[in-house]
Order: sequence, then structure tokens, then C-alpha cells
Amino acid sequence: MKAFLTAFAAIVVAVFPAQARKEKKFVEASVIEIATGNTQLLLQVDSRGEVRTVHYGAPVGDPAQFTDYDAGAYHAPDAYSATGGRFFGQEALHVLYADGTHNTELYYVSHETESRQDIVTTTVHLKDFFTALEVDLVYDAYQKENVILSHSVIRNTGKKEVKLLNFASSSLTLKADDYLLTHFHGDWATEMQMERELLTHGTKVIESRRGVKNTHVQNPSFVLSLAPHYSETDGPTIAGALAWSGNYRISFDIDRGDRLNIVAGINPFASAYPLGAGKSFTTPEMIYTWSADGAGGASRNLHRWARKYAMWNGGLVNPTLLNSWEGAYFDFKTPTILGMIDDAAAMGLELFVLDDGWFGMDYPRNSDAAGLGDWEPNTNKIPEGIDYVASYAHSKGIKFGIWIEPEMANPASNLAKKHPEWIVQSPGREIYQDRNQWILDLSNPAVQDFVYDAIDRTVSLSPGIDYVKWDCNRAVMSFGSPYLGEEQDRFFVEYTQGLYNVCRRMREKYPKLIVQCCSAGGARVDYGALRWFNEFWTSDNTDAISRTRIQWGTSLIFPACAMGSHVSTVPNHQTGNITPLKFRFDIASAGRLGMELQPKTLSGEERALASRCIESYKGYRDLVFGGDLYRLASPYDGDYYALMYVSEDKRRAVVFCYCLRQVNRSVGTKTFRLQGLDPALSYKVTEQNVDESCWWGNGKAFTGAFLSEGGFNPALLGSNSSAVFVLEAL
Ligand code: GLA
Repeated sequence: MKAFLTAFAAIVVAVFPAQARKEKKFVEASVIEIATGNTQLLLQVDSRGEVRTVHYGAPVGDPAQFTDYDAGAYHAPDAYSATGGRFFGQEALHVLYADGTHNTELYYVSHETESRQDIVTTTVHLKDFFTALEVDLVYDAYQKENVILSHSVIRNTGKKEVKLLNFASSSLTLKADDYLLTHFHGDWATEMQMERELLTHGTKVIESRRGVKNTHVQNPSFVLSLAPHYSETDGPTIAGALAWSGNYRISFDIDRGDRLNIVAGINPFASAYPLGAGKSFTTPEMIYTWSADGAGGASRNLHRWARKYAMWNGGLVNPTLLNSWEGAYFDFKTPTILGMIDDAAAMGLELFVLDDGWFGMDYPRNSDAAGLGDWEPNTNKIPEGIDYVASYAHSKGIKFGIWIEPEMANPASNLAKKHPEWIVQSPGREIYQDRNQWILDLSNPAVQDFVYDAIDRTVSLSPGIDYVKWDCNRAVMSFGSPYLGEEQDRFFVEYTQGLYNVCRRMREKYPKLIVQCCSAGGARVDYGALRWFNEFWTSDNTDAISRTRIQWGTSLIFPACAMGSHVSTVPNHQTGNITPLKFRFDIASAGRLGMELQPKTLSGEERALASRCIESYKGYRDLVFGGDLYRLASPYDGDYYALMYVSEDKRRAVVFCYCLRQVNRSVGTKTFRLQGLDPALSYKVTEQNVDESCWWGNGKAFTGAFLSEGGFNPALLGSNSSAVFVLEAL
């Protein structure tokens, strides 16, 4: 009889599996508010316990007004839609269960809110009552900066391992008449190129599957104008960025109900991530901000937030520098370096960075074909040792920095010979080279130890090492990890986690070290990396003309204090363009200024100009590093380019303006309308770096209103001319 009853019960559960959902409680409809000073994100919880985003934008008052909000005929996506249930759109979560089923239905359980300083964290607990899978949606609302971070924690509370086939950080649903997407494609020497499109029904995806060097495809960020036209100054605009340096995917889907659903997170490509019983997975942060003041307002929100919370030592000013790369490449010995240090110090620069080429004895790094992985100084090039040159720099009153590319090995290296099992590879297949190098498998803890040690040993070469340029020059190909054996699905996720483990250890030991994030230029420009780094090397392209677009694009998402920008020689090594030295300085001075050339090639006059530009930069760079950015004229749209930074109290500003192509009479041709000034304040305007100003008003004082409403018309004479003005309230 007992056996019969058990069998009967089994049949009932099998035929009526919904019985197992009994535990799910119907809840009282409500609205969860996630608010910042000027924005509101509202999640509606309906009586079935389904949670949906019903509003993101300007505050609408009492959130409860949205309790019974009816989104219309078509079922709206959940705040974190899962594969299964009643929804057919794009999913944030897709789980494959041990029994082969793919359905997950997440329902509201509870939520709580917690505040620390200006950050309010709301955690919404969701559960699938059938499979016992749990998801927490976590929102950090930065009150002053109007930034909301959103990520999820996925918990397998069941008894068997599941596979995460998609595990996005967040899903955001918007409703507007138009969605104009600005995103950033890129390549080596062509980073952060803005592209714009009006989204239509269906799905648009920006993603990378390269494992590393991801932002040489697309940047994991965007600006979304909720209007048919892009504006720097007006209209509801959202900016978004994913804090993840590995494969990512951000998809934009306009559904039948004309809603836009944005799902952002780690790219599930080749990553059916196993989640064991009792285990949880925390996804990276998706960063959002909303502004009524166009793309300018949205980027200022991001910049303020980034400087305070999202980059290593974001509030500090990083030193001006001379980098040896374009001036010496691999071809140097001690005297070359000492000479560059002398020249850097004489021109007023504050740091010298010894780039690639200083290491490798058995396989000397005299070209990019050998040496990576063997992090011992090459005593044939610098017999006196790194401490000697670092101390020399210090004796000249400047800091010392050094280049390292710790995630890599040339086949021609002791490391590759000793540890072939550390190389990313697929068993039995060719291990492809890129820039003559292989990539180390950071999913392997032993490799993480090696990479950490490589950095630690390099920094320990001298107590005088103040700065490290951490490079990463190739992407993953023919992926695979000997360490992970049959669990290759873990590779892409755990490479990036391994990278962050190393960064964490580096920061525990070296909190004050200035570390630049370089990846063949700007191939790792993302907020996941910036958390550990002081700045990016924005691009290997140092041509001032190319930099106008690269820096403009970068500034949409990242603050100027993170943007390394160097003056190099002409003809430019990447493009062949020839531009005036002053133009090059004025372009580079809109970020963290540096030089990257052999100073010996400069004439006396050029050196004097360099010293003058460096000196004046030091006078206004606090504005570049900490001021609010206003983009005035876009190099993508016309013949002029202009931007300005304004202090928080609006009493000081620096304005950069450039003529890219002279196609009209110059005098009186171009009027720049300044922004961000106090209309009533009177500002003294002083052009920098020249004896004779190109503006008739130079040296005089004008109201903020005058400067913003059409009075500011410097005469930029000729293509590639430029001017920098400092404004000081009287
Ligand atoms: C990469 C970097 C450059 C330079 C070289 C050295 O390309 O982006 O700045 O450091 O490597 O090999």
C-alpha cells in the first residue's frame, strides 16, 4: 500500500508539476523605488509577484502612482527576465537544469534597503519556487552623482549543479518614442569611434568575444538619446557602461509594445558556466545614469561618479611624463635613458617612463619577437641596473616608471619553454601568435601567482619606481586552458576574474603606485579595469588629428583624468600627419599630458614652447582632472573642435578650441558658445602659451552670459590651429 501511495504521489507531481509552486505566495502589488537626487528607477511588483521596470528617468513623485500602471497589451519584460514563464523576449537569465529543462520563473520574495553615506543599496530577492534558484537584484544608487549601478547574484539553492547559459548583470526596460543609440567601435590606433543609429524593432548587439583586448572591437558602453536627435545639452539621455574587462554583450531590443529592453552583462559565448549546488555567482556592475541635459549631462554624471568611486585614486592629479616608446622604441642603452631623463626634467615634466625593451637576457627584448615573460633586466642595455636609472630620475627631481606586459610570453622566452602548459591553447591545435606572442592562462591560479610576482619583482627593482605601465597586446585565439581540463566553459569568465585577483593583490601591496592600464593603446578601456588603475593609455595613435575623435569619444563615458594623452613627433608615426607642436600640446593638454618622443630632435624654440605649455598646463590641470566637462564643438561634425572644463564653484574654467580645417575666412568665422559658467560672474580671459592672442578680448573680463551667448569668437588661423584660454572669475 505504501509503495502504491508513493508511486501515486510521484505520478501526481509528474503530471501536475505546478503543485510544486504552492510555496509561491501571491503578494500585494507595490512599487519599489530606487532614487537618486534627480532620477527615479521604479520597479512594479504585481500581485503575481512579477517584477518589472516601469520607469527610469526624471522623478515622478509618489512611486505608488505606478502600482496599477498598465503597460498595455503585450507582456512587458521582467526587471530580470528569465528564459521561461510567460515572456518571449530576450532574456537576462538562462539556466540549464540537471534534468535538461530550461525554464526559470522568477517571483518577488522581499526587498530591503540600506544606506551608507551617499549610496543607497536596494536588494530585491527573487526566487523560482519550482527549481529553488534564487536571484538578488542589487541596485546601488549614488545620490549626488545620479548614477545607478545594477548587478545580480544568482544562487543555486538546489541539490544539483546547473549551467548558466546567460547570466546578465542587469536588464532595463524603457518606453520612449525614439531611441537613438550612440556607441563606440574601435581598433588599434582608432579607439572609441562614435557611431549613431536610430534603433528599430528587433535586436542590436554590441559585444566582444576576444577574451582580452575587448575594447578594440566595441566599447562596453553607450549613450542613448530618448529622442530622434542627439544633443549635448538637452533632452533625456541615458549613458550606460559595463564594468567588465572580459567578453561582454549589451543588447538593445525593441519589442512589439515599442519598449526598449537593454540586457547587459558578461557575454555567454562559450561560457555555459557551471554553478554547483549551494554556489552563487555575482555578475559585474552595469552602470547607468540619466540626465535631462543631453549627452553632456550624462557624461558629467559619470565623470563625477568615476572620479569619486570608480577609479584608483580618482581624486589625485597624475604627473606629466616623458615616455620612451616613440622616442627610442627597443633601441636604447643607459646613456639614451639618462639623456631623456635630463631632457624631461629640463622641460618641466614630472615623470620618466621606461617603456618596452629593458628586459630579457637569454632572449633579449630587442624587438617584439622575444623576451616577454622573462622579467629580468637586460644588463647589456642597462648594466648599472634599473635602480640606477630610477635613482638618477629622482636625483633630477622627477619620478620613474616602467613598462611591463605580465600576461604574455613570447615563444622565444625561458618562460614559454619552462611552462608550455601555462599558455592559452586548445589541445593538439596550433597556438596562434599575435605580435609574435602567446597569452598566459590567467584562469590558472599558478599563472595568477606568476603574473603577480612579475609585477611585484619589477616594482621591487628599485624603491624609486613610482609608476607602472601594464600592457596587454594580444587577444585570445583558439581558446582553451590546460588547467581547466574538461571545464573549458569556465575559461573566459575565470580569465577575467583571475586578472582582477592579480590587480587586487597588486593594490593591497602597492596602494600608492600609479598604474596605467594599457592594452595596445585603448583595448582595455572599461570600468572593470579602471577600478584598479589610475589611468588608461587612450590610444597608441598619438596623432593630434586622430586624437580629436578618439578623445571626444572617450570623454562621453570616461573622465579626462583617466585619459593619457601624449605629444609625439611629426610626421606622426601612426598616420604620417604633420601638425604644429602647439596644436599637439593643446590637444594632449585636454587629458593627462605627456610627451612621447626623443627630446633631442626638438629645436631650441620647440623646447621652449614645450616648457611653456607644460608650465601653463600645471596651472590649470586641476580643472582637467577635476572639473566638469562641456563639449562645445564636435570633431565628428564640423571643422572646429572645442571643449571646456569648469570648476565645481564655476569660478575657473579652461577652454580648448581648435580649427581642424580652414575652409572659410578665419577672422570672425567661428563663435564658440561656452557652457557651465555663471552668467552673472565676470571672468578674466587669458590665452595660454602665446605672446599674441588670437582673440580680441584676451586679457579682459566678460560676463559668463556674454561668453555663452555669442561673444567668444577667437580667430583660429589656418588648419590645425588651436588656442587654450583660462577663465578666472574676478
Ligand atoms: C603597446 C603599447 C605601446 C608600447 C608598446 C611597447 O603597443 O600600447 O604604448 O608600450 O606596446 O611594445
